[in-house]
Amino acid sequence: MLGRDFAAEGTVIRGAGRGKQLHVPTANLALDGSTMLPADGVYAVRGEVGGRVCDGVANIGVSPTFGAGPRSLEVHLLDYSRNLLGKRLRVSFVQRLRDEQKFENADSLVAQIKQDVRDALDVLRGEKSKRP
Ligand SMILES: Cc1cc2nc3c(=O)[nH]c(=O)nc-3n(C[C@H](O)[C@H](O)[C@H](O)COP(=O)(O)O)c2cc1C
Repeated sequence: MLGRDFAAEGTVIRGAGRGKQLHVPTANLALDGSTMLPADGVYAVRGEVGGRVCDGVANIGVSPTFGAGPRSLEVHLLDYSRNLLGKRLRVSFVQRLRDEQKFENADSLVAQIKQDVRDALDVLRGEKSKRP
């Protein structure tokens, strides 16, 4: 309806630190003031940092697998390996992929996140080829 994807912007802050252990590093975003977010769930996104745009997946929710914590927006960028702490990150939500779920264990969550990455790439690559 906006004619572009809905986006949220904020500064990258330190999360619980589990992402690296899971081998899925995530940037946790402190949102600006009254930023509104889409419903909890997993999304195919594009992240823009320092003028560079990367494909990614994002989760909005409370990470119930690890005992629900505070609601957060976390982004895993697919082709960005530099430390994002303290940087400004803008996240455009391209497509919702699924609800956030409580998994039996960390391995099952990581397997699902790998599938999320494949699904996101399908969506994002399809989008690019549609552009002039
Ligand atoms: C694409 C993606 C999907 C996720 N899906 C779920 C989920 O379904 N359930 C869940 O409990 N946590 C989910 N998470 C959140 C992870 O639990 C979280 O990234 C991890 O615990 C690391 O958190 P930290 O950065 O605060 O350390 C997801 C994260 C990403 C990036």
